[in-house]
Amino acid sequence: MDPALGGGQGVRRHAGAQRRRPGGHQCPHHHRERSPVGKPLDVGIVGLGNISAQYMTTLADLPQLRLVAVADLAHHRAEEVAAARGGVQALDVDQLIAHPAVDVVLNLTVPAAHAEIALQAIAAGKDVYGEKPLAATTAEGTKVVEAALAAGVRVGCAPDTVLGTGTQTARRAIDDGVIGRPVAATATMTTPGHEAWHPNPDFYYQPGGGPLLDMGPYYVTALVTLLGPVADVVGAASHTRASRVIGRGPRAGESIPVAVDSHVTGILRHASGALSTLVMSFDGAKTRAAPIEVHGEEASLTVPDPNQFDGDVLIHRPAHDWELLPPSAGYLDGGRGIGLADLALTPTGREPRANATLALHVLDVMESILRSAEQGAWAAVGTTAERPAPVPLSALTG
Ligand SMILES: NC(=O)c1ccc[n+]([C@@H]2O[C@H](COP(=O)([O-])OP(=O)(O)OC[C@H]3O[C@@H](n4cnc5c(N)ncnc54)[C@H](O)[C@@H]3O)[C@@H](O)[C@H]2O)c1
Repeated sequence: MDPALGGGQGVRRHAGAQRRRPGGHQCPHHHRERSPVGKPLDVGIVGLGNISAQYMTTLADLPQLRLVAVADLAHHRAEEVAAARGGVQALDVDQLIAHPAVDVVLNLTVPAAHAEIALQAIAAGKDVYGEKPLAATTAEGTKVVEAALAAGVRVGCAPDTVLGTGTQTARRAIDDGVIGRPVAATATMTTPGHEAWHPNPDFYYQPGGGPLLDMGPYYVTALVTLLGPVADVVGAASHTRASRVIGRGPRAGESIPVAVDSHVTGILRHASGALSTLVMSFDGAKTRAAPIEVHGEEASLTVPDPNQFDGDVLIHRPAHDWELLPPSAGYLDGGRGIGLADLALTPTGREPRANATLALHVLDVMESILRSAEQGAWAAVGTTAERPAPVPLSALTG
């Protein structure tokens, strides 16, 4: 898991949903009929680095999914994983993507490879679920969404943390009118940088990385889940050091270059008129700010860390103290991979909740903040996305 913090061209403007299969109808608040689990989706993982162990742990508990194959550029990693698990084949990347036994490619590569692997899988007619961000750029992400639309395959994307009880309970309170009309939100993530703990942190400081593109997907996806799509943004960004020093692992002490801004702030104007203020930083020691606060005309909410699946939601009504809202929505016992289980359960004709259209909008919001920071002016966000269907309080695990 990311550390518990404090614990273009051809861009499809206002991208709609992915292609809906015949008879499909999507409505954000529509009651979802659950398909029976039936045959699990057979999963092939590409990319066996730091985060892959968490996925494999979650997959083992999810009856909707079965791991059948693994691949990595470093083939020995695939062999090690397969040797430790019965029924899992170690394959080359091309072999895995083409393999008839693989229904869905779980893309856990670094951001610079996300689009390339996704496009290859879509071309092979496979469903894909990938780690965030959807791609390194909005232009690349658009190609992924367009290719999926043309091929009629499903594409899902992290984060799926927002499907857990933390963000979903807050969303339910907002949707039920408990805080009145939502007016504003804040989202704050401050850390000294992932080089303190990640053994190969290079990608966090290259295009596609930085605090906004790396951690922003959690916060911006939560903000869109809570308050709806973003119409325009204004941003400002800075960086402190031209290099960073790896803190742990075999490369500890090695200096790596920094090619991205490491402190990014933005204001997001949602289509609803609500304003969110975002601070994403690899340049601060710590923060005591709530990860997310949402302010309505009648009450304020604190929302737990969107990089976690659960956590306390607190409400403050004038003349009252902070009160705990018990979990009222969301997948219980969440772990990385529940977004893929949600995709496996999504009936024909509907988009999974952690879908590529939403991920593309989130990427576009983040890229627009960086563009605004460069240009010193408000930037319109060209894409949009529907809020995914709310998650009833339920369990996915077997
Ligand atoms: N590390 C975390 O705690 C964490 C948490 C949440 C999300 N993520 C996301 O997960 C993704 C992977 O992160 P990580 O920390 O596991 O990275 P990592 O560098 O530890 O692992 C990436 C793996 O992908 C392989 N790879 C890279 N390009 C490839 C390609 N073209 N084909 C096949 N294999 C390829 C690498 O050899 C490596 O084994 C990133 O998008 C990251 O943002 C990471």
